[in-house]
Amino acid sequence: PVLVVDFGAQYAQLIARRVREAQVYSEVVPHTMPVSEMIARDPAAIVLSGGPSSVYAEGAPQVDPSLFEQGVPVFGICYGFQAMASALDGGVEHTGTREYGRTDLTVVGDGGALHQDLPAGHPVWMSHGDCVTKAPEGFTVTATSTGAPVAAFEDTARRFAGVQYHPEVLHSPHGQEVLRRFLHDVAGLRPQWTTSSIVDDSVAAVRAQVGETGKAICALSGGVDSAVAAALVHRAIGDRLTCVFVDHGLLRAGERTQVERDFVAATGVRLVTVDAKDRFLGALAGVTDPEEKRKIIGREFIRVFEQSARDLQAEAGESGEHFDYLVQGTLYPDVVESGGGTGAANIKSHHNVGGLPDDLKFDLVEPLRALFKDEVRRVGLEVGLPETIVQRQPFPGPGLGIRIIGEVTARNLEILRSADSIAREELTSAGLDRTIWQCPVVLLADVRSVGVQGDGRTYGHPIVLRPVSSEDAMTADWTRLPYDVLERISTRITNEVSDVNRVVLDVTSKPPGTIEWE
Ligand code: XMP
Repeated sequence: PVLVVDFGAQYAQLIARRVREAQVYSEVVPHTMPVSEMIARDPAAIVLSGGPSSVYAEGAPQVDPSLFEQGVPVFGICYGFQAMASALDGGVEHTGTREYGRTDLTVVGDGGALHQDLPAGHPVWMSHGDCVTKAPEGFTVTATSTGAPVAAFEDTARRFAGVQYHPEVLHSPHGQEVLRRFLHDVAGLRPQWTTSSIVDDSVAAVRAQVGETGKAICALSGGVDSAVAAALVHRAIGDRLTCVFVDHGLLRAGERTQVERDFVAATGVRLVTVDAKDRFLGALAGVTDPEEKRKIIGREFIRVFEQSARDLQAEAGESGEHFDYLVQGTLYPDVVESGGGTGAANIKSHHNVGGLPDDLKFDLVEPLRALFKDEVRRVGLEVGLPETIVQRQPFPGPGLGIRIIGEVTARNLEILRSADSIAREELTSAGLDRTIWQCPVVLLADVRSVGVQGDGRTYGHPIVLRPVSSEDAMTADWTRLPYDVLERISTRITNEVSDVNRVVLDVTSKPPGTIEWE
């Protein structure tokens, strides 16, 4: 792999994704990893990421100079660029000229391997206080900017290069090309990380893990990750995989069908549906506190899944075979964030099926552990899942249960489901599905307001629309939906959904508001 050394900025995962966009496999490793350990992973190249600190700050992470004696190509970015210059005895100074944001880059000479044929002046995204004032010996300076006399350097003979700016962000329009040139032209790596190679490798890995006779079970949530994980495992072991779909009654209109009909049609997976609607409604009766709702839904989900796993074990046991494997849709960002990378790390368990009791012992099969979300979506399409499943917007595990402010009752669910389905229909027909990250539709069951409909006074509930734009759900902005789309949604909901006489728009960013209301 290409190792992306994380110096603690938020950019390392993004860099790893960009490396993969150049069709080269990459992994994120912490800067505390000793050089010997990096080398033990047989890296194809090493990318030193940006970081928050100044190379001169006390305790600032340094680069071990022996890294440059291993014959491995190295690319430094921002802080990594300065740390590289410093480790190789170039000059790094605190000049006091900060550059932050969009900056003009001037290509020097012919631009070398990384910047040749790019516009002589072009914008890049900078974020630095210190700067490199002198390139290390053997390096050629290939770009400069007002605040960074040395903004890019390279020593193609030793396969080293670096840039002061952030090539990984979209604000550096030629950044991806520069990164690609480093990987392909300077480091000499071949573009082999393609969707079809990912599928082939994952299928082979699952076969190797589960063997010729092992049997696996998977909880399908209707979400993208569990669907793609199940589809891959099914491709590897066929009917030795059984999927369990717990219908907790908190799904949106059409979601059960999407799993039972579309997913099964696309994959041929063996599916067991457990209808647990009444059980969840019973457990949620009278509950209005958001955290309590979440706990109850999580707990009931595990109990229902556990019971069906036991039932399946009992059935399988009669023929002498048990399920040994549990398929989970863990993604690479979860692996990185829980400090993992290699096998044994403590991984955040899939919140839907965490906490199974000890007597239900499964080995985990996690075919998406190395993948980012966009790769998961491409793999999903590659294995034949429909767009409607693969491009689904995020939907919380506790479902509509946390979109009813007040008690979760059959009637409230029915109201919310109708309103939600109208909103989704209109957003889709306006072509806005890719523009918005997600649009929770919330029923304020505890609130009533006066309205007038037809000839009469009404006293109904408001529906809240919460359209948001986001990259990763950590922060979000409210989406400026066109007025005519809002108007259609509002008119249809108030006309078609009884008990709703008002539609309101949530115009709060995150922070301070969360995306969901509970
Ligand atoms: P918040 O409301 O915290 O939501 O801004 C961030 C993202 O996470 C989703 N979400 C959940 N997803 N189980 C999930 O699988 C949950 O319990 C859960 N709660 C929130 C939410 O829809 C948004 O995408």
